[in-house]
Amino acid sequence: MNELVEAAAPPGANGGVPSDQGTHATLTAMDYGDPRESGDDIVLAAVDLRKRYGDVQALDGFCLTVAAGEVVGLVGHNGAGKTTFLEMVASLIRPDSGRITIDGADPMQSRGLVGICPQHIALYPSATVREHLQLFGGVNGLRRRALRREIDELAVGLRLTEIMARRVGVLSGGQQRRTQAAVALIHRPRLMLLDEPTAGADPETRQAVLDVVKGRAAEGGSVIYTTHYLPELTELQATIAVARRGRVIARGTGAKLLEQLPGQVRVRFGNDEVRMSAMDTTGALVTLLSSATAAVTEIEIRKPSLDDLYRSLAVSDDR
Ligand SMILES: Nc1ncnc2c1ncn2[C@@H]1O[C@H](COP(=O)(O)OP(=O)(O)OP(=O)(O)O)[C@@H](O)[C@H]1O
Ligand SMILES: [Mg+2]
Repeated sequence: MNELVEAAAPPGANGGVPSDQGTHATLTAMDYGDPRESGDDIVLAAVDLRKRYGDVQALDGFCLTVAAGEVVGLVGHNGAGKTTFLEMVASLIRPDSGRITIDGADPMQSRGLVGICPQHIALYPSATVREHLQLFGGVNGLRRRALRREIDELAVGLRLTEIMARRVGVLSGGQQRRTQAAVALIHRPRLMLLDEPTAGADPETRQAVLDVVKGRAAEGGSVIYTTHYLPELTELQATIAVARRGRVIARGTGAKLLEQLPGQVRVRFGNDEVRMSAMDTTGALVTLLSSATAAVTEIEIRKPSLDDLYRSLAVSDDR
């Protein structure tokens, strides 16, 4: 019979999965903007944002700073406040209190610097893809040659070439996603707000969106990218902001955040398998090996992943 034992971390090994309290305790308020180097060009500064809807405190002291050329992966459970925050940055809703500046100015004055790809498709069903890009590019000040150049580039990058003349209402879900992303990017915004731009997308669509976003960041654009699919953030080389209950509770590079999480050690001997979570995986392995009662047949040491980070915050945000 296979026995699976969840072992406690050895005393003194600084082990165990950190509680949410632990995450809070190890990060200070200054960490919200931390990944930037001093002297970085700050594009977005959001300080202590609050927003209440009836009984729901959608944002509850939300702070985030984004530097030029930075891709921030904004993650968190359903209801954490991610969309509310992005809509606020795009001036679609107003905070009850708190302050947002984009390039040092009020968001209402900086609307042209921002492009938002909303979580839910918001396009005109009877207009074609090309008409969307012409409309949104034109509204944002692009004229003839520049508009044509941007449309051509996005059509190739987001695989829209074949569907440019089709009405959006008849497009598939993935095709609409790509169109929505193109609308957000057409005027080459300095700050891109992409709210689950690949939700429900097939791998090709996902890759097209990621490639275009990486390209824009490489040119110095700033991106806030929400997703529930964390490998995307690794590919985007994003810094991470974890939102929970209306505020950012962890902020930093993936490597920095993962330093605070334990790794996993698994040892199989005979018919038994023992697993241990520990910060010091070497110490844990020594402990497990010394307690083995039969020949060891398998050893696995696994570093923490972004999925583990997400799971360590595994309390629903549905309020
Ligand atoms: N217009 C609104 N009226 C009432 N409640 C709202 C409104 N907008 C957002 N909320 C509530 O605010 C909270 C935060 O919602 P928000 O959409 O920002 O979450 P989210 O982090 O984007 O979640 P998801 O991952 O599901 O997209 C939720 O409890 C939501 O029900
Ligand atoms: Mg959302």
